[in-house]
Formats: sequence, C-alpha cells, structure tokens
Amino acid sequence: MLCYLKNVVVLGDVRNTLKEIPDESFHLTFTSPPYYNARDYSIYPSYKSYLSFLKEVFKLTHDKTKEGRFLIVNTSPVIVARISRQHSSKRHPIPFDLHHALTAIGWEFIDDIVWVKPEASVKNRNAGFLQHRKPLAYKPNARTEYLMVYRKQTDKLIDWNIKQYDWQTVQSSKVADNYESSNVWEIDPTFNKVHSAVFPFELCKRVIEYYSL
Ligand SMILES: C[S@@+](CC[C@H](N)C(=O)[O-])C[C@H]1O[C@@H](n2cnc3c(N)ncnc32)[C@H](O)[C@@H]1O
Repeated sequence: MLCYLKNVVVLGDVRNTLKEIPDESFHLTFTSPPYYNARDYSIYPSYKSYLSFLKEVFKLTHDKTKEGRFLIVNTSPVIVARISRQHSSKRHPIPFDLHHALTAIGWEFIDDIVWVKPEASVKNRNAGFLQHRKPLAYKPNARTEYLMVYRKQTDKLIDWNIKQYDWQTVQSSKVADNYESSNVWEIDPTFNKVHSAVFPFELCKRVIEYYSL
C-alpha cells in the first residue's frame, strides 16, 4: 500500500508525474482529458498529435494500474470553431478515436455511460437552424458526454479483485441503496469561475463508489 500517495494532489505534466508512480499501483483512474483545442488551457498542433498525447498518457496509466482495475474516461466529441464564414467548423469524434487506442494498449472495454445535462445548460447550436430549417444543416444541442469504462485486461473475474480485501473493507464498500441502475446519468454540470471544466461532485462520487473499494 502506497500510503504516501493517499489524498495527495500532484501539480505537473501527467507524462512526467506518472513516471514517478510505481507500476501496478493504481486502483482506479477517473479522468477528463483536454477537449482537444476547444478550450484554451491546452493547444495541440493537430488532432493527430492530440491523439498521440492521449495514447502516451493512457499507456503510462495502464502500466501504473493493478491487474483487473478500472479506467473511466470522460470525453465527448468537440467542435473546433470555423476560422471564417468561408470555412465550416470541424467536429472531432474523440471517444470513438480514443476507443481503438485504448483497446490496442490493453484496456478491455466494459461499458459506456452517458452523462446527460439539462439542455438549458449546454451551448445552443440551434440559432441559425431555427430560422432557415435546412435539413442538412441540422445541429442538435449536445446534452451528453461519455464515461468510457475500461478494465486492465485480465482473465481473472471481478471476485479475484474483491478477495484481495479484508471482510470489513468489502462490507463497507458495498454500493448503497438508490444507486443508479441505468447507463444514463442525469447530473447537472458544475460551473466554476476559475476552471471551465470542473467535475460535478455527484459524478465523481458515483464513479468512486461503483468502481473502487
Ligand atoms: C477537461 S479538463 C478536466 C478537468 C477535470 N474535470 C477537473 O475537474 O479537474 C482537462 C484538464 O487537463 C489539464 N491538462 C492538460 N494537459 C495536461 C498535462 N499534460 N498534464 C496534466 N494536466 C493536463 C488541463 O489543465 C485541464 O485542467
């Protein structure tokens, strides 16, 4: 047990900080990588180089993860705005491109959970369509993001992971009543003046409760 890592926040480039962690020590990773160039905290020279960055990070994460434990990645397709009226905006299907990279690394696909936000809380893409109603130009408001659920590939059953804990830990980790039984999680987004993409508390609470002991 790496006690010195408990409740520690590390500030740094994940590609460097992950290398400091001993192999096979992570019990759960829950992360929301940058949305390519859609926000201004990170800029990549191309979509290809962005995907290479994700591959490098999730390969390192794989090395650091214990056998059979989980990785949950929060992603969604993103739009990179058009540079002028003569150009169109470009939508990148991040979850679908990332899926192939993750399985090639050795992450086994387990589930897709859809995080649904109220329509009033998301960017309105309907303004133009509302007036002209041209069918090919239909643009739905994107109320959903994915939680892509993977497990570090193993031939062991989940019970093998559970049996590594003492009875008391297993009992106290049981998921409480009124848990979410479907893969549609309706959770309001959290808005924050300092950061444009903070996780809602409820999202983290569920992931930790359902995917770790
Ligand atoms: C989509 S946001 C997710 C924030 C997350 N939901 C939260 O509540 O903290 C992506 C985050 O990744 C960070 N980031 C981008 N590149 C990074 C890197 N190379 N190493 C570590 N963090 C990075 C950004 O600064 C940003 O805070």
